Amino acid sequence: MREALRAVVVGATGYTGAETLRWLVSHPGVRVVGATSQKHAGKVLPDVWPQFAGHRVPISAEPPEADAYFLCMPHGEAAKLAPSLPAEAVVIDLSGDHRLPEPLHTQHYGFARAHGPWPYGLPELGMERMIGQKRVANPGCFATALELALLPLRGQMSGRVSAVGITGSTGSGASPSDTTHHPLRAENLRSYKVLSHQHVPEVELALGSMKLDFVPTSGPFRRGILVTYVLPAVPASAWEAFYAGNPLVRVLRRPPEILHVLGTPRADIGVIEGDGVTVVQCAIDNLGRGAGSQAVANLNLCMGWAYDEGLRHVGAVP
Ligand SMILES: NC(=O)c1ccc[n+]([C@@H]2O[C@H](COP(=O)([O-])OP(=O)(O)OC[C@H]3O[C@@H](n4cnc5c(N)ncnc54)[C@H](OP(=O)(O)O)[C@@H]3O)[C@@H](O)[C@H]2O)c1
Repeated sequence: MREALRAVVVGATGYTGAETLRWLVSHPGVRVVGATSQKHAGKVLPDVWPQFAGHRVPISAEPPEADAYFLCMPHGEAAKLAPSLPAEAVVIDLSGDHRLPEPLHTQHYGFARAHGPWPYGLPELGMERMIGQKRVANPGCFATALELALLPLRGQMSGRVSAVGITGSTGSGASPSDTTHHPLRAENLRSYKVLSHQHVPEVELALGSMKLDFVPTSGPFRRGILVTYVLPAVPASAWEAFYAGNPLVRVLRRPPEILHVLGTPRADIGVIEGDGVTVVQCAIDNLGRGAGSQAVANLNLCMGWAYDEGLRHVGAVP
């Protein structure tokens, strides 16, 4: 039997940190040896997240020694911490700090970075290339859905492509703000960062040879993302062939639903063929496929384990 890999989650009191821990504590190849928080150092995980009853992971201000680190921190903070982590450890950054090359990074995140970019961790871009990597930039949540929906057409599309996407409120993180306050968000729909969302450049880099016009919208629900493209006619079989055998992507010939992917590591892609037109939609859990479970899938690939190891649970039913 192999020895368990020691994992630490940095920023464990935030939403992506908690979701990453949710997958890690039941992963057969991993032992969670610590979690960090500035505000809750000295406590154990169930003090902050009662859902983790029975998992008394110690919370400290500084990350303890480990074999793998998951950086679930605000943009700018991960880039500061990363250089101090051991070179031989696997480090997976869920923030945007290591995704883009310069000058795109500084343009979109507002600060210059000393290191990076790191290998971009959308597994479907090529799983072999992730084996043995020690540093991974986990994709953004909207970016994951936008990329998975169009990946089968990579290299075949050029010119402009338009998409709309709706996300749940956990996409904004655990700290409340004017735009995430419940009375303003519940029973409301509001688009934001129209044509200027920071995930657009990583999508354009991942898909190549196309320009994305993207309208992000905040929805009145907690978890989930649904993105929609309307494309010139392409047969649904292109998606079915590309994702055949992938345990974490399901292709449907009907609209996918957020409810069916909540709490799962899966993406559901719906392809609807029309007269001279094809509608492609992708539904993911922004905290799962858009963050924590994708980070665990990337750890699996770095370690040479099965892509979906520890990621085979069924999601919650209503
Ligand atoms: N939410 C999503 O759907 C989603 C999806 C994909 C990627 N992301 C990205 O993932 C990152 C985390 O997002 P989130 O939604 O989980 O945010 P969050 O809920 O606000 O959590 C941020 C975490 O970082 C910790 N933190 C804050 N400042 C820190 C510092 N200086 N050093 C160390 N830890 C610090 C916070 O705890 P303490 O203050 O107690 O330390 C908290 O645990 C962001 O970069 C975000 O863009 C988010």
